[in-house]
Amino acid sequence: MAAARRQTMAGYDHDEIAPVAFAKMCEVAPWDYPVLFWLCNLLHEINGLVDAGGHMGTKYRAFHPLLPLDRTFRWVVYDLPAIVRAGQSLAEKEGLANLSFVDRIGDAGEMPLLLGSGLMQYLDMPLSGLLSQMPSRPQHLILNKVALRKGNTVVTLERIGRSYVPYHMRNEAEFLDDIARLGYKQVDRWSIPSLSHAIDTHPEFGRSESAGFYFRLG
Ligand SMILES: C[S@@+](CC[C@H](N)C(=O)[O-])C[C@H]1O[C@@H](n2cnc3c(N)ncnc32)[C@H](O)[C@@H]1O
Repeated sequence: MAAARRQTMAGYDHDEIAPVAFAKMCEVAPWDYPVLFWLCNLLHEINGLVDAGGHMGTKYRAFHPLLPLDRTFRWVVYDLPAIVRAGQSLAEKEGLANLSFVDRIGDAGEMPLLLGSGLMQYLDMPLSGLLSQMPSRPQHLILNKVALRKGNTVVTLERIGRSYVPYHMRNEAEFLDDIARLGYKQVDRWSIPSLSHAIDTHPEFGRSESAGFYFRLG
């Protein structure tokens, strides 16, 4: 963030960044299908989810036409305050009944599933840090588009609109250990070759692997 602040603007938490790429993120991408598969499989046993890094409800908009969500299903987006403000205001206008927003994950309450789609690249802590802010650990974790590498974790900057946003390429073993230490077992993993990235200014670091996961507690 210190390096980003030397540029025009730093991080995601700005009103003017909320609309950037909104329509694109509301589409169903090819790498969303494993997430849809596991969501469909779990719907019979869950009554809601917390969509961490869920932006203005982009994946809710992409997925809900494809999922048999009943009216009582709670889809709670947790995101940064500026994004939550924009998301809430739009959802009120559109009258989206299932969708609500929080800017503190603890306010989502107990949830059986945490969805983190495109979250881990931007989250400024290990996943365990975020989970520790919840009243209880979700039984299920679905993570998508996690940027991983075999070497040390690297943080670079991504340009989003006028802002520079810290982007984490995590050491794979540390990322997996952090989740395993909480008692989660990996049920599924998929690779997303088209979202592998190299850092233009530091090609010596090689390319990240983008991966998705389904973990279950116990
Ligand atoms: C690329 S968007 C992902 C949007 C959507 N979930 C998807 O998969 O397309 C990343 C989101 O993570 C959010 N984010 C970044 N840091 C965060 C944090 N510390 N806590 C919660 N959300 C965060 C950003 O505000 C942004 O909405």
